[in-house]
Amino acid sequence: DAAAPNIAPVYDMVVVSNRLPVDYLGGEGAQTQWKASPGGLVTALEPVMRAADGAWVGWTGVAEREFEPFEHDGITIVPVPLSADEVEDYYEGFSNDTLWPLYHDVIAPPRYHREWWDAYVRVNRRFAEAAANAASDGAVVWVQDYQLQLVPRMLREIRPDLVIGFFNHIPFPAYGIYSQLPWRRQVIAGLLGADVIGFQRAADAGNFSRAVRRLFGYRTRGTVIDVRDDDGKVRHVVARHFPISIDAAAFEQMARRPEVQERAREIRKSLGDPDIVMLGVDRLDYTKGIRHRMKAFGELLRDGRLSVEEATLVQVASPSRERVDTYRQLRDEIELQVGRLNGDHSTLGHQAITYLHHGYPREEMAALYLAADVMLVTALRDGMNLVAKEYVASRYDDDGVLVLSEFTGASDELRQAVLVNPHDIDGLKDAMVEAARMPKRERARRMRALRKRVRDNDVANWSATFLETLTGAGPISPGVPDG
Ligand code: F6P
Repeated sequence: DAAAPNIAPVYDMVVVSNRLPVDYLGGEGAQTQWKASPGGLVTALEPVMRAADGAWVGWTGVAEREFEPFEHDGITIVPVPLSADEVEDYYEGFSNDTLWPLYHDVIAPPRYHREWWDAYVRVNRRFAEAAANAASDGAVVWVQDYQLQLVPRMLREIRPDLVIGFFNHIPFPAYGIYSQLPWRRQVIAGLLGADVIGFQRAADAGNFSRAVRRLFGYRTRGTVIDVRDDDGKVRHVVARHFPISIDAAAFEQMARRPEVQERAREIRKSLGDPDIVMLGVDRLDYTKGIRHRMKAFGELLRDGRLSVEEATLVQVASPSRERVDTYRQLRDEIELQVGRLNGDHSTLGHQAITYLHHGYPREEMAALYLAADVMLVTALRDGMNLVAKEYVASRYDDDGVLVLSEFTGASDELRQAVLVNPHDIDGLKDAMVEAARMPKRERARRMRALRKRVRDNDVANWSATFLETLTGAGPISPGVPDG
């Protein structure tokens, strides 16, 4: 069995997440190379950790390798090793083939395997031990996301002196769905080891409180849950929503750089300078509604409501979880669909869809956002969706239209977007045309309001609100209904 890394217990703030901000790329010793890792969690936590003098405990994305703790970009990184079997059973299996589809309203069928659960317990214990080793006396430990739901309780058992927070980056499903999980009690018990449990939306926190009442019968009052510990004592745990965000100012600054603007012009030119550039940016994931979006776009071309001379769609789909079957199948389906639509609609000078199966650095993303007249976020279910917020933050020119699925956490805040139900293909088509044809004044009016919202609740605000609640400095709002 791999062991948790040993590190001096000197950190007053420890963040624990499955994925570190960097993935191992190759090389040994001083030649070791790292690359930025994908996903919203890293986007949000990186600026927080750069500002805090803490340690970040997590996995390097590679199996069967042990690394000493190291510094990266001003952040102390503490790598936790995983064996090849653990990557298969804990990460690809239980995290991404059981919990992920279950928590996203069973868009794909979750698979329940007992050996995956065993690996999940084992790996969660290793993460808990690693965090316990790094944390100073009375430190704050902030555990992230669905891969590590057992860590809060395990950590409390090893280190009762710690202040423990947990934040769930993805949705928490309604009890009727959650109750499928054969280990539903253990998971809730694991989470209740935390002092504060954060969710993206009020509805997620409500779903969680309901599951607690159904499975444990604990009393809940607003956002406070009375948890009865093994020693018979009652502990107050807070469960409420803290909508996550991005470093809005950093995105805006990047978008204002002349070379980024030049790159945006270059991108439009290389696309044949169409009137309307539509853009999708997602991890290649079945929750993101990429097929729905492309189907709608294809039908608009077929119906003649848009033409390839005037409009083009750029779809960035960054590689993700490529060894999980559902993701493999999705990639095949999407690539088949892109090929068909391009075959049917492209002309020699004009391509219907430009499909890019890559991740890109942030500067390139900012240039793409600036180049896009219409941003399509059509997720079928999404905890928050930070791409929507990145697009808005980049549009310092108060231009561009965001088409946003109601099934994203972001839609609670970004009300001036063109809101859509992506399952309703006709409605989605109408929304895409409305966005493409929206008058400039209306675009500016909406974008100004959206930008204000993203600036007002940026990631610094998110982490400060969470951490103040956790350390008891902040007011505990009774804002979450417990019904
Ligand atoms: O925010 C959801 C999330 O699953 C993060 O926990 C994760 O880091 C990110 O998406 C990307 O997924 P993965 O780490 O599996 O590549």
